[in-house]
Amino acid sequence: MKALVLAGGTGTRLRPITHTSAKQLLPVANKPVLFYGLEAIADAGITDVGLVVGDTAAAIEAAVGDGSAFGFRATYIRQQAPLGLAHAVLVARDFLGDDDFVMYLGDNFIVGGIRQLTEAFRTSRPDAQIMLTQVADPREFGVAELDQAGRVIGLEEKPQQPKSDLALVGVYMFTPAIHEAVHELKPSWRGELEITEAIGWLIDHGKTVRSTTITGYWKDTGNVADMLEVNRLVLETIESRQDGTTGAGCEIIGRVAIEAGAHVSGSRIVGPVIIGAGSTISGSYIGPFTAIGQDCVIEDSEIEYSILLRGASIRGVRRIQASLIGHEADVRRAPQVPQVHRLVLGDQSMVQISS
Ligand code: DAU
Repeated sequence: MKALVLAGGTGTRLRPITHTSAKQLLPVANKPVLFYGLEAIADAGITDVGLVVGDTAAAIEAAVGDGSAFGFRATYIRQQAPLGLAHAVLVARDFLGDDDFVMYLGDNFIVGGIRQLTEAFRTSRPDAQIMLTQVADPREFGVAELDQAGRVIGLEEKPQQPKSDLALVGVYMFTPAIHEAVHELKPSWRGELEITEAIGWLIDHGKTVRSTTITGYWKDTGNVADMLEVNRLVLETIESRQDGTTGAGCEIIGRVAIEAGAHVSGSRIVGPVIIGAGSTISGSYIGPFTAIGQDCVIEDSEIEYSILLRGASIRGVRRIQASLIGHEADVRRAPQVPQVHRLVLGDQSMVQISS
């Protein structure tokens, strides 16, 4: 069995950060979200992994390399434009050959790995196996309709009127039967070749499509709120570690990992928090569920429930919350100016100003 990992696409919902970097490399507890998926694939015993890459190919290749650090062989497959998940299967045809494969969306985060799922698939070998989970707003996902016996009878991509609240999770298992289905597809209303439609084609042509409904934790980290939530979840599991140094006047509470070369002084850190290698924290408060990347500087500031990417700095700002701060971003307090309010208000306006 092979794996096909989708690490192309555009990441529109994470702009502006994904203007300059791949969304699959955004860090969760200081590790790229993609790596959690790659580790799950390696743990399932898969040694041949194809990565579909687009404009951010160089960054993905630099991060994953030849795959040996994960215990597999990585092959890079260039997709000229993000024309859809089924298009990715199309361009990976040579790599996939006639093998069964698991397709893994590089920005999906699943707790518990995929070993049990791949084992079940290898044993019963339906033409395709999908994973479903209940979500609050199915309109943002592919949605499955099941019959009374729990069989998948229809699938729709991002429907306006969803037929259920069961969303497709970004892990799919296929036999080579999928190749005929993707060949038959036409671009959808959003101009993509949809894997959802390819699976629908299999159902319509009498193939077996099984579904497993998972109740464990799953998130598509496609937007900032979900990134912060996954970061919180992973930080819940970190262990205290002090490979860096702490100076005078520090109060460290709960589980805090301070990586090598980081230095904390005169600050209150309330875990779970991770402070990346080479970062300096002084005169500040770092609150729960914060991941500070490498080489960041935080001075005389307060921050919690946030992610800072490599090289970001914050000086003299309090309090930052629920924020995603990009590589080398520089946040500082504006010079004090007399506060004025300049208003042009319509009739019967109601305005609340805190001053
Ligand atoms: O996360 C689960 C959802 O993923 C499913 O419920 C949907 O049925 C499925 O279509 C997909 O929806 P998204 O809109 O979230 O997919 P997105 O465009 O974010 O792409 C998912 C991953 O695949 C992401 O890492 C980028 C990559 N990708 C995407 C496209 C369209 C590619 O590598 N090439 C592509 O052409």
